[in-house]
Amino acid sequence: SHTVSRGDDGVVRVGGIDVKQLAEEFGTPGYFLDEADFRERARAWRTAFGHDADVFYAGKAFLSRAVVRWLHEEGLNLDVCSGGELATALSAGMPADRIAFHGNNKSEEEIRTAVEAGVGRIVLDSFQEIVRVAHIAQSLGKRQRAQIRVTVGVEAHTHEFIATAHEDQKFGIGLADGQAAEAVRRALALDGLELVGIHSHIGSQIFDMAGFEVAARRVVKLLAEVRDEHGVELPEIDLGGGLGIAYTSEDDPREPHEIAKALSEIVTRECEAAKLRTPRISVEPGRAIVGPTAFTLYEVGTIKPLDGLRTYVSVDGGMSDNIRTALYDAEYSVALVSRASDAEPMLVRVVGKHCESGDIVVKDAFLPADLAPGDLIAVPATGAYCRSMASNYNHALRPPVVAVHDGEARVIVRRETEEDILRLDVG
Ligand code: LLP
Repeated sequence: SHTVSRGDDGVVRVGGIDVKQLAEEFGTPGYFLDEADFRERARAWRTAFGHDADVFYAGKAFLSRAVVRWLHEEGLNLDVCSGGELATALSAGMPADRIAFHGNNKSEEEIRTAVEAGVGRIVLDSFQEIVRVAHIAQSLGKRQRAQIRVTVGVEAHTHEFIATAHEDQKFGIGLADGQAAEAVRRALALDGLELVGIHSHIGSQIFDMAGFEVAARRVVKLLAEVRDEHGVELPEIDLGGGLGIAYTSEDDPREPHEIAKALSEIVTRECEAAKLRTPRISVEPGRAIVGPTAFTLYEVGTIKPLDGLRTYVSVDGGMSDNIRTALYDAEYSVALVSRASDAEPMLVRVVGKHCESGDIVVKDAFLPADLAPGDLIAVPATGAYCRSMASNYNHALRPPVVAVHDGEARVIVRRETEEDILRLDVG
């Protein structure tokens, strides 16, 4: 249930609190996150996948201690990909055995910390790392549960997927030329590792289940090869994250229950055909859980109409709080949220305040022609990969994340101050 609504006065309210009040109390720019929506989405994934499967929230999308606690309470696990994310997870009380540790270049120190903490799995990303993790675990007198990340030769794009013979990218170990089977062979031979499964992540912002089907089929085929060669049936497969959300009205996302049903059907069918026990499935949605739950609130500053082109609307943030438009040509929508307007729509480009012409938040949008400095505008669906990829470019102060719940708003990540910036400056 979305708790965002627009009143007769044109003012948008989230969880009963109006955005003008939020702006006054917490300032702009700010990310405002609907906690009930987050919990509902997390629960929908959990429920859809049931007790025979696990849902690992991908912390890279957005992580804070409050988020870790919500996930813990809702029965989700957590995927981390750095020492920093691991520290956040542990400090907020996520049980280590519910944490998966990812990354293509984990440091020895990160690996040691993860093994000592007792993380539930480390996802091995290279031949070197197989040996590295095994040695570290062994030196600590442990046997580390691990999965091997494979690249299945499916390249997922936004709306389509292209099967490639060989994936030219830094993650995982290739299936095609027998590399993944060799990796399994080596991992099984090492005392420091308990190899429990195979991992595949095909990409992000995907709407079509076909890529996941191909991935699942190829991973099950590898499991069958492993069984034939070693007599071992690996008990887990992880199919990664990547489920798309609606950034604009053109996007039509799948629901968690559709995804769960499709994945479990494919895996079950393929395993039956290969006479394998069906492994425990896990997934790692990040964006699909947190993305839709937050919006960024900006105050309109300078408005510059360019005759015959468009109107440039500058806001008090920009590429430092949302790099996705500049980086991926990502599409967002925008709305005037602090009042009603009957004015004609005008074509705008919402830009930030940074010293960079590519500092665009929303490339093409319409806002009422009577837009004025001081108006509040909101960009929806900024819960994922906005705060987590925020920067201090131009010594911008990264905005707060404010959770709204039951008519109350509370800061879960505070706004940076100039002292925060200066604190790191030595000399
Ligand atoms: N699992 C693994 C191993 C991943 O690498 C990722 C994302 C996920 C899960 C979560 O994917 P999601 O469900 O959130 O799409 N910064 C980019 C996306 C890069 C994601 C990298 N890995 C963005 O802003 O769109």
